[in-house]
Amino acid sequence: MPRHLIWHGHGTFEVVTDTARVMIDPFFTGNPSAIKRADEVNPDVIIVSHGHGDHVGDAIAIAKRRGALLIANHEISLWARDQGASNVHGMHIGGSHTFPWGTVKLTMALHGSMLPDGSNGGNPCGVLLRLPGATLYHACDTGLFGDMALIGEEGIDVAILPIGDNYTMGPDDALRAVRLIKPRVVIPDHFGTWPLIAQDANVWCERVRASTETRPVTLTVGQPWNF
Ligand code: NI
Ligand code: MN
Repeated sequence: MPRHLIWHGHGTFEVVTDTARVMIDPFFTGNPSAIKRADEVNPDVIIVSHGHGDHVGDAIAIAKRRGALLIANHEISLWARDQGASNVHGMHIGGSHTFPWGTVKLTMALHGSMLPDGSNGGNPCGVLLRLPGATLYHACDTGLFGDMALIGEEGIDVAILPIGDNYTMGPDDALRAVRLIKPRVVIPDHFGTWPLIAQDANVWCERVRASTETRPVTLTVGQPWNF
């Protein structure tokens, strides 16, 4: 069963289940909203959504230290192997794979994916995590797209959506995304890390509450949220 979700700031989330600690986009070094260091977290699995530095982040260093399984699109998985990560699983958009702790499906995202060293990071992805007892969708960095309705058809318990604007959906489009996905719970992310993506998450949550059936939840960095 999923136990809890921890927001580490920006787009970085850790799902803790009975059998694994799964971290998406581990960005600690240089993340102004992080309260932990990369050497203080111990995921068993790391999923990287796209090649940008604020998402690849400390993935390679943590994967090497932990021997953690690193999951990413094909291009990023090859790059990660080149960087010395030995336990790597490449996938691609639309594909699912079942691991002992749950099923990962990579979904489309409207964004870029060039890696920090200029390497080709393939296409950016969102992450659908089907865990025993709950299905999570982390949209990661993306603009609004109509096919979010198809993702919603999969039955989303918890959706994590960016609201920061400028690089991703802003509050208005994220609200439209909630209407397309119809998750049970929505959690806003990718805001407030820098002044350029400052947003008032409480105001956004109030709009979600007023105009959808979805329950908005704002997480506090480092505080486990049970679901
Ligand atoms: Ni990005
Ligand atoms: Mn980003």
